[in-house]
Amino acid sequence: MTTSIIGLLDSDELATTLANSTGWHKIPLNLHRFPDGEWRIRLLDKPQKNVALVCSLDHPNDKIVALILVCGLLRDMGVEHITLVTPYLAYMRQDVAFNPGEGVSARYFANLLSAHVDKLVTIDPHLHRIAELEEVYTIPCVTLHAAPLLGAWVRDHLPNVALIGPDGESEQWVSEVAGIASAPYAIMEKKRFGDQDVRIEVPDLSAWKGRTILLVDDMISTGRTLIVVAEQLRAQGFTDIRALCVHALHDDDAAARMKEAGISAVLSCNTVVHPSNAVDIADFLLQGMT
Ligand code: R5P
Repeated sequence: MTTSIIGLLDSDELATTLANSTGWHKIPLNLHRFPDGEWRIRLLDKPQKNVALVCSLDHPNDKIVALILVCGLLRDMGVEHITLVTPYLAYMRQDVAFNPGEGVSARYFANLLSAHVDKLVTIDPHLHRIAELEEVYTIPCVTLHAAPLLGAWVRDHLPNVALIGPDGESEQWVSEVAGIASAPYAIMEKKRFGDQDVRIEVPDLSAWKGRTILLVDDMISTGRTLIVVAEQLRAQGFTDIRALCVHALHDDDAAARMKEAGISAVLSCNTVVHPSNAVDIADFLLQGMT
């Protein structure tokens, strides 16, 4: 089926790359923000019946209204099938009511997106207590895992490395990355009591002296998880500590705090547009779209 492709906000460049690889026609989208924050949206060409809408959902509260308005416009223009290509899918960490009266935002957000698009393609959504997206999304979902990409990157760039996963959830990707890179790895146990209150005890890792230590996680937000680990590694005498993540959600302040804690470089996939981007996901993403 012929497909049109549209990039929303900072995903426009990725949409252009995907359009060049597939030959799909990219439709320019004009977004104007009124002084009160509302959007005016305008498509500058007529879409095919089948549309791939590319929009990474970091900063979701800013982006979701524009996304829903564009879906409305596409339906008005006769589009029958919208695939949302969202390299980073938001709201997956609030997957259970942690306290009485708390909302399960992962499910509410899934209901919202499922009502507007027909299919979803994403990379490493935070699957923890929700085992697969279809538990909360009512549309077909393609879930890609970036571990092979990360593994190849580590193998090609860091010859004498040992990997650390900061919590139990990270074992799924850290073990795979370590396998591809033929590197040893260890998984920590994490307890989180608040945004900035994270407790992890790093065991004695002196057997790894002389190696680059690479902290690997699916996402970095406040940076606190990796800071807590890095501080203890530094206290153990490690001098070359770096970090690699799929989704870089952290701001400049968090980047500065991680540097101060001894993490000399933070690298990420370009699922979220970020200065730390080092691993390109465009070709990989195509596997889930075609
Ligand atoms: C948590 O379950 C995730 O895998 C990450 O470890 C976490 O979201 C990182 O957040 P922060 O950078 O705020 O510690």
